[in-house]
Formats: sequence, structure tokens, C-alpha cells
Amino acid sequence: MSRYFDHAATTAVKPTAVEVLTELLPTVANPSSLHGAGRKARLAVDSAREQLAAAVGADPSEVIFTSGGTEADNLAVKGLYWQRRSENPARRRVLLPGIEHHAVLDTAEWLQTHEGAELVIIPVDAEGVVETEALAALLADEPETIALATAMWANNEVGSVQPVAEIGQLCAEAGVPFHTDAVQAFGGEPAGAAPVDFAESGASAMAISGHKIGAPVGIGALLVRRDVKLTPVLHGGGQERDIRSGTLDTAGICAFAAVAREVVAGRAAEAARLTGLRDQLLAAVDGLEGVTLRGPDPRLHPQRRLANNLHITVDGAEGDSLLFMLDMAGFDTATGSACTAGVPRPSHVLMAMGLSEAEARGAQRFTLGWTTTEEDVAALAAALPGIIAQSRQAGLAAQRRT
Ligand SMILES: Cc1ncc(COP(=O)(O)O)c(C=O)c1O
Repeated sequence: MSRYFDHAATTAVKPTAVEVLTELLPTVANPSSLHGAGRKARLAVDSAREQLAAAVGADPSEVIFTSGGTEADNLAVKGLYWQRRSENPARRRVLLPGIEHHAVLDTAEWLQTHEGAELVIIPVDAEGVVETEALAALLADEPETIALATAMWANNEVGSVQPVAEIGQLCAEAGVPFHTDAVQAFGGEPAGAAPVDFAESGASAMAISGHKIGAPVGIGALLVRRDVKLTPVLHGGGQERDIRSGTLDTAGICAFAAVAREVVAGRAAEAARLTGLRDQLLAAVDGLEGVTLRGPDPRLHPQRRLANNLHITVDGAEGDSLLFMLDMAGFDTATGSACTAGVPRPSHVLMAMGLSEAEARGAQRFTLGWTTTEEDVAALAAALPGIIAQSRQAGLAAQRRT
């Protein structure tokens, strides 16, 4: 059995979710059906909607269930863009930081290629945090031509937590709808930081995903404020206020809501536990030759970094070969985003933070989760220095050959 340090990619399904799925999957009906079984399923969905809304600080009517984070981000970015342009064709600009997940970034790029959008990049600092003064200046420049702004709540590679409330306020003042991707932030909030709360954020829309918190893959949600209009991406049966057609996944929805409630109830204790474990890993690599921590330093700014995230670059090493060596030693890690893992390309997140391609090459991300134990962390902390040294030697040897 390997030791798993890739919880940001996906985390094991929690017993609570297994319980709900085991109960509902064999019997569940379509909640849009009018018969008794359908009405029972509808009641289960309604109750789950209330639970989930309470967990994220939203009203139940603001919850639009989707198949996951990618779909929620697509719906928010395309839906807001199309809606805003239909109201005023001059609104073509989409504001976004370069550190967004591909679910947002590639959607925006698609709108640029196919739908006449103009992308405006919001600068981030060297730690991967949005520069709000620069955003304020961008919003002040012809705000009537801005379709939307989008900025993730926390970054999936370097764990940087964004000043979402401030971004939300700036966008509201400029009259620009703001979408935030909270897929990594929800349930991963640093100890003492403001919890993910839709109403407090001032966002028009917010994406969350089940499989990042211990619910099954295939369920997520977009929170959409009641006064915000979206053009749907999917057309069909008119479910979810006609914003997202498709038969509702009753069992998945109920499992997601139950896990969300559990995660929120245990959030403070789990954040403290994961922070302690993550800091042990940080201590194990701190000061090693060639190793640089990327993203905010949790020792200086504990609330600016996700509790479960450690990200380093190793000078002279290749991220892929480091991953391979760790894999051989029994540790599952990642070079960055799961979606780009395996593709030998420098991370767009690190590039947006101002790193050179050479600096970004030796990236490695370690993410902890609810199954991570002290033994897991002790084993990785003991192995890391040797593996890092070995990967640097291999990198240097490869460079000499070329
Ligand atoms: C920040 C962020 N947004 C969106 C997604 C996509 O979510 P899903 O896997 O549920 O489609 C991910 C997944 O890695 C993510 O980390």
C-alpha cells in the first residue's frame, strides 16, 4: 500500500457518503416523477439542498447541482458571459488571474476563440495571491465593457488563499458579476481563516465539488445568487431552475450534502490537525539545498495557505522524475494540477507567479486529507531529503548529457 499525498486531486469517499449511497442507490426514483417514489426522492433532494446551502452560507434556492467542479465553472463563466453580452454586446472583457484552474482558464480561452471574448489577466504576486489594487484599476477602466470577473478562492497547486471578500466588494462596486471557484477552498480552509461562505463572499456565483471533500466523483454544485441571470449551457428537461437540465443524481446529492455538513462541523479541528502535519513536512524540507517553498509561507501567514498543501520546487530536478522516485518509494504525489500531470510542461500557475521555466520544472505538490496519518507524514518526512538529493543528481547528470 502506498501512502497517499494527492488529496487535492481527489480524496477517498467518506463512510458517511458510503452509508447514504448504500441506502439510496438500490431504491431511488427520478425526483421529477410524480408517483410516490418520485415524490420521496424529491423530498430527499430538497432536504439535501437545504443541508448543502447551510454548509456554504447560501439559500437553498441558490444551489444548482452539477456533475462536479468543471461543469460548475463552465456554467458560471459561459453562462455569465452569454447572459451579459445578450444584455449589452459591448461587454466582451473577462477578467481573470493567470493562476485559475483549467476548468476556468480553458473555458475563458474558448470564449476568446469562439465567442469574441477579450481576456484581461489580473496580476498575482510572487506567492500566487491576486493583487487587489491592480484589480481595482482594471475594474475602473471602462467597466461597462466587462462581462465578468472570475478568481478562485484558493489555488489547487500552491495553496494560496485569495482575498475573496475584497475581490467581491470591488466587483460589486464596479457593477461586475464575480465568479469564484471554491473547489479547493471549501473544506480546506486554513485554521482561523474566514470559512467559505457564499453570502459573505459577495460573489455572484461559486463552484464546489463533491470528490474533493469525500463525496463521490460526479457531483458538485454552482451557487448562483437569486438576482443573477445565467444563460444555460445544457438544455433539456428544465431541472434546476432551467439553468442546468438533466436528471438529478439523488443519491450523489444526498451523499454530497451529508459529507459537506460533516466537513463543516469538523472543519476547525481538521484544519488544525492538517496544519500540524503539513508543517512537519515543511520542516523536513526546509533549508535543504535547492529546495524552495512556493506559495505563501504558512509560518508567516498561516491564513493565506490551505491547511493541507505543501508545494516546493527543487532546483536542478525534474518534477516528473521526482514524482517517479517518490512513487517507487511508496508515496503518491503530484507535480501540480492533476489535469496536467504527466504532460511535461511547466505549470501555468508557477509561470503566472513569475517563475522561469527552469525554476518551475522541479515542482512537487504534497496534499494531505482526512485519511492522512501521523505515520504517513513521518515516513514521507524521513524519505524526502534523500529522494530530493537523488533527483537533483539525476537532473544534473541529465543536463550534462544534453
Ligand atoms: C480549483 C479547481 N477547480 C476545478 C476543478 C475541477 O473539479 P472537478 O474535478 O470536480 O471537475 C479542480 C479539480 O482539480 C480544482 O482543483
